[in-house]
Amino acid sequence: MLTRREFGQRGAALLTAAGVRLPMWERALRPMVAPASSTERPLLLGVDYYPDQTPENLWEEDARLISEAGLTNVRIAEFAWSLMEPSEGKFDFTWLKHSVEILHKHNIAVILGTPSAAPPPWLTEKYPEILMVNSEGMTVHPGGRRFTCPTNKTYRKLSLTIATEMAKNFAETAGIIGWQIDNEFTLQQFGRCYCKYCREGFQDWAKQKYGTLDSLNQKWGTAFWSQIYTDWRQIPVPLPSNGPPNPGLALDYDRYQSYANASFAGEQLVMLRKECPQHFITTNSVGAPFDTLNLRELFRDLDFVSNDNYPGFAAMFMEGEVTPERVGRSSAISHDSMRSVKGGKPFLIMEEQSGKAGQPSFGPQPHPGQLRLWAFQAIAHGAMGVNYFRWDTARFGAEEYWHGLLNHDRSKSPGFEEIIRTVADMKVLGREALESSYVAETALSFDQDCDWALQIQPGHPKLTYRDQLVEWYGAVAGANTGTDLIHLDEDLSKYKAVFAPVQYVVGARQAENVRNYVRNGGMFVAGFRLGAKDESSQIVNMPLPGLLRDVMGATLKDYVPIYTEKVGVAFEQQLAGREGQCGLWADLLVPESATVLAKYVGAYEGAAITMNAFGKGKAVYIGADLDGTSLSRVIRTLLEMAGSKSEFTSPPAVEITRRRAGGREWVFALNHSNEGQKITVSGTFTSVLDKKNFDRELELKPYEVVVLKRS
Ligand code: GLA
Ligand code: ZN
Repeated sequence: MLTRREFGQRGAALLTAAGVRLPMWERALRPMVAPASSTERPLLLGVDYYPDQTPENLWEEDARLISEAGLTNVRIAEFAWSLMEPSEGKFDFTWLKHSVEILHKHNIAVILGTPSAAPPPWLTEKYPEILMVNSEGMTVHPGGRRFTCPTNKTYRKLSLTIATEMAKNFAETAGIIGWQIDNEFTLQQFGRCYCKYCREGFQDWAKQKYGTLDSLNQKWGTAFWSQIYTDWRQIPVPLPSNGPPNPGLALDYDRYQSYANASFAGEQLVMLRKECPQHFITTNSVGAPFDTLNLRELFRDLDFVSNDNYPGFAAMFMEGEVTPERVGRSSAISHDSMRSVKGGKPFLIMEEQSGKAGQPSFGPQPHPGQLRLWAFQAIAHGAMGVNYFRWDTARFGAEEYWHGLLNHDRSKSPGFEEIIRTVADMKVLGREALESSYVAETALSFDQDCDWALQIQPGHPKLTYRDQLVEWYGAVAGANTGTDLIHLDEDLSKYKAVFAPVQYVVGARQAENVRNYVRNGGMFVAGFRLGAKDESSQIVNMPLPGLLRDVMGATLKDYVPIYTEKVGVAFEQQLAGREGQCGLWADLLVPESATVLAKYVGAYEGAAITMNAFGKGKAVYIGADLDGTSLSRVIRTLLEMAGSKSEFTSPPAVEITRRRAGGREWVFALNHSNEGQKITVSGTFTSVLDKKNFDRELELKPYEVVVLKRS
């Protein structure tokens, strides 16, 4: 699936919401680490710290400096397996205990990471069968990280053993507040393992899912190319086989790999709940559009979501012009997706860029103001805290070029003072704002089934779910009315409009949910390829758009991948604007009960956009792969029709978000550009951080962040 390279190349209220009983970990935190006079748990404003890579004589100084910087917590030990278990069954936590003691003495709370993302050499030497096998069938070598199989029982046992030893040793240790299980399950050079253990795991999973081989054979359509399975053990994994794999099998394999990783994490979670009931438990990931796992499955039983945020990484490899706005947007989509994984609960930034990004090469140096902007952007999108990656900059290892708050020579980094000021300002903003709810009027479907199914069969070699998602996200989120990234079977009733780009796979529950949403007054806007496949990845046996034909009030005359033709799109009155261009795909629509809003010009005939009144709502089908400018204009017009329009007028480089708690609302205005920008507001506002009053107009300096409250 997604490789590190591809990642680059593409670019309480938390649990304390009214009436909800505080979970044990949160109650336990209250008296801990906080100033003596306070009974509240600390805000999570910290750094990722590596005592395992730092000479012991510097630990005291580090703790003092971290504390003086106003930081409240660290995350440690997630890559320290070889120091904690130097040989099998011999555990050594004295160094870690000592480090935690020092940190605690300086009032710094500690999140411990379990180390299963990188096993030590003794382990892979003794148990080479735990190594991952990549999609070419080659065994992945140790020496990096995440090179292990998620199914292998030996690896699961060894991972659980070290995590359990950690838990037992630190359950009662003062200063420990929570756990990060493993590290970034989702991001690895090879996103899937194809080893023999995964094959067996997949066979067992398929048996659970389908019950009988007859049912499996039918759902996968194994009559094609003589693939009828007569024994569960015959089922292969989708390794190269001189022909494309069965799409049903391949999609299920993605689902299985997601399940395997989630259940791997689940084993550690069950143990940690038992051993450390007073601690919170999370894991970190990266969100849309790059995540390769079903995050709802991964985070289902964890206390909150943690996101890792590296805008500089995106900038480093982004295709096309790298504008600060695009860089900002790439983080925004990630935050919005991560917040949405647990229904909008505040999430934590477990890793936030603190300087130049880089592994073999350096990324750009963040401009003055950008580090602050990016960290506040996370808060603006619903984060409750930020941990900077990392405290110091490693002088050895694969990430020597990844800059922390201290330089290689331990002097302060160029961003140090800015980070410290940012953390201080977040404290001024305060707990109520940091734990308030994000306001979203719109939603965008982010559906792994569609992503995976389209990777298996893109339909057009250049068509990717991710590109479409990002393009649509830019258009929807650009309206500044707040956007959640949801699944179509979730509660949609709270949104003024719901958007679904390339919703290629549509399940019966999703279709029914969308039908009810529109019937009750919602606006549903779908892109081309809507409903072409069912959940087994079979083409639906009905006219397109399949299950949603009645809702859309239109059907397809044909669908056309576009290679050489020039296909234009002419807009009708309601969407009046310059003729648009159709990119990779054209669904040629025939209205049934719908009205035509745009038609194709040139080689093909048919409607390009239709709108249908269905019940009290509206369903819009955008059948053309519209150019970015037209798509934005169309989406903005539809949002206005749906009654979702920001009360602020702002240029494209300015992002505006809102968070609410009780009757209070905070408005975040973020200038992603390196030039001053103006926004107009209706009503009078005060800026929370510098207490200035605004009426009608507000000027933002380059990269400036302003947090406003209505006055
Ligand atoms: C990820 C990982 C970290 C580190 C950073 C920077 O987010 O979790 O261990 O590698 O990226 O590359
Ligand atoms: Zn495997």
